[in-house]
Amino acid sequence: MSSPSNSAGHIFNDGWTNVEQYLSDTVVHPDRALVDGVRRAREAGMPAIEVAPTAGKFLMLLAKIGGARRVLEVGTLAGFSTIWLARGVGEQGRVITCEREQLHADVARANIDQAGVGSRVDIRVGSATDTLKQLIEADTEPFDLVFIDADKPNNVHYLTAALQLTRPGSVIVLDNVVWDGRVVDSDSADHNVRAIRESLKFIGSSADLDATVIQTVSSKGWDGFAIAAVT
Ligand code: DHB
Ligand code: MG
Repeated sequence: MSSPSNSAGHIFNDGWTNVEQYLSDTVVHPDRALVDGVRRAREAGMPAIEVAPTAGKFLMLLAKIGGARRVLEVGTLAGFSTIWLARGVGEQGRVITCEREQLHADVARANIDQAGVGSRVDIRVGSATDTLKQLIEADTEPFDLVFIDADKPNNVHYLTAALQLTRPGSVIVLDNVVWDGRVVDSDSADHNVRAIRESLKFIGSSADLDATVIQTVSSKGWDGFAIAAVT
C-alpha cells in the first residue's frame, strides 16, 4: 500500500490527526481520566485502536439523546468507548461490556474506575459469544443501545445476537466498516475485509434494521461506523 500506515497497520494522515486534535481540544474536551487512560493502555502494550475522542463523545451523545439506560458493548479494550457510554447513560444507567482478554479487562477496570463511572459498568471477561448467549438465555431486559467493536470476523454473529437483545427503537452501532477504504474490495482475501463486507450486507438487507454508514477520518485513519435503528 502506498499510503503511510500507523502502528496498527492503518492509513494515517497528519492533516486528519491535526484536525482531530484541534476538534478534541476545542469541542470535545476529553478529561484527565481519559488522557491518563490512553497512557495506561500504551504502557500495557495495548494497540492504539481505541475510539478517537470525537467518536467516543458521539457515542455518549447518542446514548444521551436517545435516553438510553441499558447499553451493551462488544469489545471493551481499554474502556474508552465504555467510559463515554457510561457517561451517556447517566447515574441510573448501566453498561455491560464484553472483553475476551483479562489484561485488557484489568486496564479497562482501572480506567473506568478512575473516570468515576465504575458502578455503572459490568465487564464480562471471556468470549463475547458465550456472554451474549448467556444474556439471551437469561431473557435479559432489552438493551437500548449496542456498540459492536471487537473481532471483525464475528460481526455478523454479534449483530444477530444484538437483534435478539434489543427491541424496536433500539440502536446498534458497528465500528470499523470502511477499513481504510478496503471495504470496496470485493475480491479481497483479507478475513477482516470479507467480514466487514458480510456485516454491511447483513445490515443492509435485514428487514429489522434501518441503517446508514458514516465515513470518518481522524487520528484513527480512514474508517467509519454503521448506525442502525431496530425496526
Ligand atoms: C482495529 C480495530 C478497531 O476496532 C479499530 O477501531 C481500529 C483498528 C484493528 O484491529 O486494526
Ligand atoms: Mg473499532
